Amino acid sequence: MSTQIETGCQEIKVTVADGVRTIRMDRPEKKNALTLPMYDAIAAALTGANDDVDTRATLMLGLPGAFSAGNDIAEFAKMATAGALGEPIVAFLNTLAQSQKPLIAGVDGLAIGVGTTMLFHCDYVVASERCLFKTPFTDLALLPEAASSLLGPRIMGHPKAFELLCMGQAFDAMAFEKAGVVNAVTSADALEDTALAAAKTIATKPVGAMKIARDLLRKAGVEEVESRIREEAAAFATQLGSAEAQAAFAAFLNRK
Ligand code: COA
Repeated sequence: MSTQIETGCQEIKVTVADGVRTIRMDRPEKKNALTLPMYDAIAAALTGANDDVDTRATLMLGLPGAFSAGNDIAEFAKMATAGALGEPIVAFLNTLAQSQKPLIAGVDGLAIGVGTTMLFHCDYVVASERCLFKTPFTDLALLPEAASSLLGPRIMGHPKAFELLCMGQAFDAMAFEKAGVVNAVTSADALEDTALAAAKTIATKPVGAMKIARDLLRKAGVEEVESRIREEAAAFATQLGSAEAQAAFAAFLNRK
């Protein structure tokens, strides 16, 4: 039986079935660019997972061809005027880092900016062969976020993390698998079934042992991750207001 959870945000759909809570980003017309209400709804769904005995694993999905195009750049432009990174973004990142249930992602197509960096918080990532992972932070005169400046080098090693996070180089699924970010690569057609099967397998494990094992694996990093999220967010907020960032946002928004 599948239970639909009301999110209050049309662009985030949440269901729970067979021990798996699926959070789907669903904003096709903007390739799943994330807005503040979407961050709020995802954070609420992750918090809900922590408190829900029927959720034994959480699966993050996007749409065919677009996992997420990253933060909505029009909203970045507004935040630049306000002089702060939106509170829902920081709340989302902290909730992600503090997630108490295993996190699985099924990624098809574009995974840009936070669409890539959120994967560093996942326990198991399935990617389709047509994935493109990219964080064009410095091209937008912005900075790495989501503790990616800590987790990126930790997972991929400094040289590859530099390519991704500082040079804005694109990685394909095979390169991300080799770099240790992705667990398995499938065809686009098989992506969702494969990711769901992985989530269900994780959900069938003894829940107490899974929690303790996962906590042990993540324990050393949690406080450091939270502190890095704060440090990055402060620097990011300052950089958002820079003339170079505002020029980059305007160039994207006026490009057509
Ligand atoms: N913020 C706001 N709008 C975005 C967006 C983003 N991050 N990414 C895509 N969109 C919008 C486009 O403006 C376009 O809207 P429109 O149809 O109203 O003009 C729509 O989504 C489709 O995007 P489009 O660029 O036409 O599709 P594409 O397949 O040619 O390219 C991308 C897709 C994701 C490669 C391209 O849109 C892009 O580079 N987006 C910006 C990604 C980014 O820099 N994110 C922030 C990282 S920090």
